[in-house]
Amino acid sequence: MKNIVILISGGGSNMAAIVKIAQRDAWAEKFGARVAAVISNKADAKGLIFARDHRIATEVLDHKAFASREDFDTALAALVDRFDQPGNPVLVVLAGFMRILTPGFVGRYAGRLVNIHPSLLPAFTGLHTHQRAIDAGCKFAGVTVHQVTAELDHGAILAQAVVPVLPTDTAETLAARVLTQEHLIYPRAIAELLQKI
Ligand code: GAR
Repeated sequence: MKNIVILISGGGSNMAAIVKIAQRDAWAEKFGARVAAVISNKADAKGLIFARDHRIATEVLDHKAFASREDFDTALAALVDRFDQPGNPVLVVLAGFMRILTPGFVGRYAGRLVNIHPSLLPAFTGLHTHQRAIDAGCKFAGVTVHQVTAELDHGAILAQAVVPVLPTDTAETLAARVLTQEHLIYPRAIAELLQKI
């Protein structure tokens, strides 16, 4: 069984979308895959409640308890590796996980580590993507699913969706329109990847 481990920091709506589609589309039978665990770096991440309600194993690893980024990532890899055994490979899915990962962590799961970023990469890496798209006068914004590499918000693009930027948009209204698309393309991109790993 391929084990999907989803990393979150907050609301977890992308994680919930993936869990729902995995159930609806019977990923266990189709791809031999299951959402095995949800890990949050924040104890109060709302997404943890959804995961627990769906009987998915959850873990909290508070980054503030670690002296360095390397120490945190080493502990994170130890948690993830519980779900990475011969014959049962792990796919690590970042879903609103607001941490920069070390090259060591990224290299360990190369090709099996994906992220969703709320912009049309390579535009607007980093934070505040929606406000920056509005400020730049963009007529279109969107979302990108990509392989994770050591360079922030780079890596091979797996899927994108485009939404219009409306003259009345605020960062919040644009974010909501983009998020609706995130919930569609992320499960689809993961399903495609599961057939390759
Ligand atoms: C999503 O919009 C995701 O694209 C973004 O955080 C939100 C998480 O929402 N991720 C990043 O900004 C990563 N740099 P969710 O917790 O409801 O899935």
